[in-house]
Amino acid sequence: MTVIAIDGPAGSGKSTLARLLAARLGFAYLDTGAMYRAVAYLALREGVATDDGASLAALAREARIAFTPDGRIVAAERDVSAEIRRPVVSAAVSEVSAHAEVRAVLLDEQRRIGAAQDVVIEGRDIGTVVFPEARVKLFVTATPTVRAERRRKELIAGGEHVDADETLQAIVARDAYDSQRAVAPLRRAADAVELDTSSLGIDQVAEAAREIVLARLGADS
Ligand code: DC
Repeated sequence: MTVIAIDGPAGSGKSTLARLLAARLGFAYLDTGAMYRAVAYLALREGVATDDGASLAALAREARIAFTPDGRIVAAERDVSAEIRRPVVSAAVSEVSAHAEVRAVLLDEQRRIGAAQDVVIEGRDIGTVVFPEARVKLFVTATPTVRAERRRKELIAGGEHVDADETLQAIVARDAYDSQRAVAPLRRAADAVELDTSSLGIDQVAEAAREIVLARLGADS
């Protein structure tokens, strides 16, 4: 099975790229951030404290998080695809995802899904922890201002009212938290190729990624 690992901070363009690559290659697509978001959403809904790692891990196990073939995410038997994108979930998810117990539950799931098929997997620790043996690793970046503007447009498209400065502050705070946590922090794997998307359109990003993927897969075979 071939795993393509795509890591990077929020708003770097990694989700758009991962989806596009998966569609072009005929691979499955796994959004691991959505899994952490589903746990954070359930915690908020059930009133589980975001500093209670053991209870959050139990919630993650019981939720039976799954993806439908058309990419919807189901947790605790409900489609939570829209709810997990809300700013209140984004604000809670970093703390939820920093617990080793929560990560252990989702790591098992991610490895199981990745072992079963050719897949493009995106997240923060895919190339470093979840699939350190992935054949292709991309680390996608962009400047904080560019990332915040992308995130703001997504939120506005989803009907949220957001302020540009607040979005920038939220994104910088989340990346700092994700990069500095003790367990599986966001960082580039030594053998990942970095792709800065700050001044690239999606077609240019896709083309650059395609060349990297072909070079890596070709070099291996
Ligand atoms: O990709 P995203 O913004 O939807 O991810 C939401 C949060 O989940 C992110 O702030 C950190 C966490 N996350 C993680 O810790 N490890 C992953 N592999 C994916 C996401």
